[in-house]
Amino acid sequence: MSQTTLGIIGTGMVGVAVARRAVDAGLHVVLSNSRGPETLADLVAELGDRVRAATPADAARAGDLILAAVPLAAHVRLPRAELAGKTVIDPMNYALYPGFSIPQLDTDELTSSELVQRCLAGSRVVKALHSIGPKQLLELFRPAGAADRTAIPLSGDDPTAKKEVTDLLDLLGFDAVDLGTLAESWRSEPNTPLYALPYVGQPPSGLAPLEFVAWAQQAAGVPVSAGRIEELAAAAVRGPAGFRM
Ligand SMILES: NC(=O)c1ccc[n+]([C@@H]2O[C@H](COP(=O)([O-])OP(=O)(O)OC[C@H]3O[C@@H](n4cnc5c(N)ncnc54)[C@H](OP(=O)(O)O)[C@@H]3O)[C@@H](O)[C@H]2O)c1
Repeated sequence: MSQTTLGIIGTGMVGVAVARRAVDAGLHVVLSNSRGPETLADLVAELGDRVRAATPADAARAGDLILAAVPLAAHVRLPRAELAGKTVIDPMNYALYPGFSIPQLDTDELTSSELVQRCLAGSRVVKALHSIGPKQLLELFRPAGAADRTAIPLSGDDPTAKKEVTDLLDLLGFDAVDLGTLAESWRSEPNTPLYALPYVGQPPSGLAPLEFVAWAQQAAGVPVSAGRIEELAAAAVRGPAGFRM
């Protein structure tokens, strides 16, 4: 897998954290964002020889696997044609804010990843890397077999694509727990016990949503075993989708 190229669309907090882990793991990485490759020059220089910047379409073409680390609202602008035939990792979470909501998600008709899969009909979408924060991702990686290795849930409709993402997570320093299809991925969406909290522990009480986000972004990572992920997924109850900002 060390010859694998990871295409990353979206180089905010999640895209950059995954890029750092991928480079440390020996992968080649092609980074892209909405503003153009020239805006990524400093990051490319910092990350080294195995990294280059491109447009989203070029990152999609170049990647053996693609991470689409953009806001969910931007999934409709992903380069569909170039992503066709590829495995696309979807870490996107549904955040509701004034003027933005998605009715099929509000009624639980679809999970957010089913929505993304419908949009990227020619791709194999795997939901992963959405429930752990970037800081914790950069702290909790461990070699295979380590007693305190952290596990990450994934969901998808294509077994081969899930195996590819499982192998990638292993390389990045994590075990994977398969939660089933994209329809079942609500079990690790926001508002479930699997989402974010296991990796950061108990927050101070009384935090408003934005205060929780700020707290979680600086919280020390807490290792989470595969068994714990399985327990939390089995106990999940489907409620309203998305978190309100
Ligand atoms: N932050 C977290 O703790 C966390 C944890 C797990 C999952 N997530 C999810 O992961 C996704 C990314 O989160 P983030 O915190 O990394 O977001 P972020 O810091 O706001 O970064 C978003 C990135 O997406 C890029 N982008 C937006 N529209 C685009 C488009 N049409 N084409 C190409 N690139 C586009 C932006 O480009 P520019 O840089 O050019 O603006 C930016 O690089 C979100 O869906 C979020 O829900 C976040």
